[in-house]
This record gives sequence, structure tokens and C-alpha cells, in this order.
Amino acid sequence: MASSANKEEAVCVTGANGFIGSWVVKTLLEQGYTRIHVSIYPGTDASHLFTLPGASSATLTVFEADILDPDAIAKAVENCRGVFHLASPNTLEEPKDPQTELILPAVQGTINVLQAASRLGVRRVVLTSSISALIPNPSWPSHKPYDETSWTDLDYCKAHKVWYSMSKTLAEKAAWDFAEKHGLDVVAIHPATCLGPSLQPGLNASCAVLLNLLQGSKDPQENYWLGAVHVKDVAKAQILLLETPAASGRYLCTNGTFQFSDFADRISKLFPEFPVYRFNGKTHPGLKDCKDAAKRLIDLGLVFIPVEDAVRDAVESLKSRGFLKQEETVTI
Ligand SMILES: NC(=O)c1ccc[n+]([C@@H]2O[C@H](COP(=O)([O-])OP(=O)(O)OC[C@H]3O[C@@H](n4cnc5c(N)ncnc54)[C@H](OP(=O)(O)O)[C@@H]3O)[C@@H](O)[C@H]2O)c1
Repeated sequence: MASSANKEEAVCVTGANGFIGSWVVKTLLEQGYTRIHVSIYPGTDASHLFTLPGASSATLTVFEADILDPDAIAKAVENCRGVFHLASPNTLEEPKDPQTELILPAVQGTINVLQAASRLGVRRVVLTSSISALIPNPSWPSHKPYDETSWTDLDYCKAHKVWYSMSKTLAEKAAWDFAEKHGLDVVAIHPATCLGPSLQPGLNASCAVLLNLLQGSKDPQENYWLGAVHVKDVAKAQILLLETPAASGRYLCTNGTFQFSDFADRISKLFPEFPVYRFNGKTHPGLKDCKDAAKRLIDLGLVFIPVEDAVRDAVESLKSRGFLKQEETVTI
């Protein structure tokens, strides 16, 4: 597959100090990118990015930009040939005000990034959407593995208060409308539950799902689950999508689709010392197992890391950062 990479041209990463964003920066450095615009929420810390291998011989420039501030975003995006747009509120907690806390920043933030990209001649934007723009979709046929043609049912989300999925779906729809109207090259990636070692000090939402499961949570992730993926693969896929001229449309990024109950069973076998809840039966009756659900990325050459490795790496990282205590054991 032909690559359009000129690694000396600048690229911008929004949400660069978050879980996936930090891995995108790390992977860009590993792959020889030399000029990275690190766009972060004003007042937050990006110091861990400067200790990454290769950071000292590259130019990392920090831009403090709320994605709701078009002028600040434009400064971050200026002179970049590619933009990885990741900044978006990422929480599965119930918000007090979904419109202000989730939907507005996701949708208007995306439009602000795309407007800046279009005006400033960015050649491609890789938009981090989510499986949460594919599901929940209760009308998806249960015999068919989920793929990129699925869209989240917004009426279902409203009725069941699934606000995060609503925010990601509305943001992606707005992005496609904008791309079509303005002739901007946008490619979207849809990661499943993303796991692995954290480079940033805080705990992000997807690693919290694993942490809670290890601590005995009975939450079946009803509306938020298709499968899991190593954060390293998500970062690699993002760069692959920037560099592959023929890439277009939506790319599901998961190492297979499978039941959350099966995931819990696998975790319980891997870590018998933790009180992992074993669900009785399927947690996701309409979800069909599929090993190569991310066929579009596999066809571009991405080889997925086993989910077990993603989990082991995440657990080690949770332990080393003090989120998961060693002494938690199953009480009989
Ligand atoms: N992790 C997953 O499993 C997963 C799966 C599918 C899709 N995604 C998507 O991937 C992206 C990154 O997620 P993540 O897991 O890396 O979460 P994360 O660690 O919470 O990163 C999100 C980043 O966005 C920033 N942000 C939020 N609102 C902002 C605003 N108004 N202005 C500027 N920056 C803002 C956050 O800044 P703060 O430092 O202030 O928090 C944070 O750095 C998100 O778009 C998410 O929806 C994640």
C-alpha cells in the first residue's frame, strides 16, 4: 500500500495528553515524525510526552486549546499537513447536563477542528469516532457481525440516556456533513474498548472499565461494548489512516467482536486473584462473535495484538500507578 508520509511535515494531535492521544504521539515519534503539534486542554499537563523516546530530538510544540475556542484550535492546526482529532469528553458517568458536558464539546469541537483544517489547507483529518457511533443499534440483525455500516440509534440513546454514544454519533455525522460540503479529506476510526499501558498519569474511562471489572463490578456494559483493542493498535491504525492515500470512510478498530461476559471469563482466568464477576449467560444477546470484524484495517495491513496482552499490559500499568492494589483477593 502506497504511503503518503513526509515525516518532516508537521502533524497535530488534539487531546494529545489523553490515553490514546499520548500513544499517538509516542507512535509518531517511533515512526520518525519530527514536528508534532500537541494540542491540550488549557492548564493541563503534557510533561509526560517530553520524556517519551525520541521526544528530545523532535519538535513537540504545545498548544493550549479548548476545542470550543476556534482561534486557539486554528493556532494548533496551522502549518500541519495532517490532524488527528481525539479531544472529546470521554466519560461513561451520567452527566448532569448532557448537552453542555458532552454533546456540545464533541460536536462543536469537531466542527471547529474541521473548519480550521479546511481553512488552513490540512490534507487529511483522522477523526477518532468510536464504536459508540455504531452501537447501540437495536435494529441491527443478530445473525450479522457488526461492521462500519451500523449507526447508533439516536432515539434509543435519548430514551435510555446513553449520552456519550449520542455525543460521538452526532459529532461524526456533523463531520461527514462538513467534509462533504467543504471537500475536506476526513477518515474516521472507531475503536472498541481500548486497553493497555497508560502513559498519562490519570485514569481514563476505558481502563476504568477493566479496573471496575477486576474489582467485582457487575456492570455488563450493556450499551458500550463490542470488543477490545490494544491502545498500541489504535495509535498505529490512526497513523496508517493518515498515511494511506486510498483510505476513506469508517474503520472499525477492534480485535474481534465478542460478548462482555466472555471477556469477563477470560479476565477471571487470567487473574484468578481478583474478584471478577462471572455473568450468567450472554451480556449482549444481539452481538455475534467475529474474529476479523476490523477487516478494513486488517486489509490495510494492521495485525492486532491479542486482547490478553492488552489486558495484561493494562493491569500492570494500573498496579504500577496505584489504581489496582495487589492485595485484592477473592473472598470465599
Ligand atoms: N478509550 C477508549 O476506549 C475509546 C474508544 C473509542 C473512542 N475513543 C475516543 O478516543 C478519544 C480519546 O479518548 P481517550 O480514551 O484517550 O480519553 P481521554 O484520556 O479522556 O482523552 C480525551 C482528551 O480530550 C481532552 N478534552 C476533552 N474535552 C476537551 C476540550 N473541551 N478541549 C480540549 N481538550 C478536551 C481531554 O482533556 P483533559 O485533560 O482535560 O481531560 C483529554 O486529553 C475520544 O475522542 C474518545 O471518544 C476512546
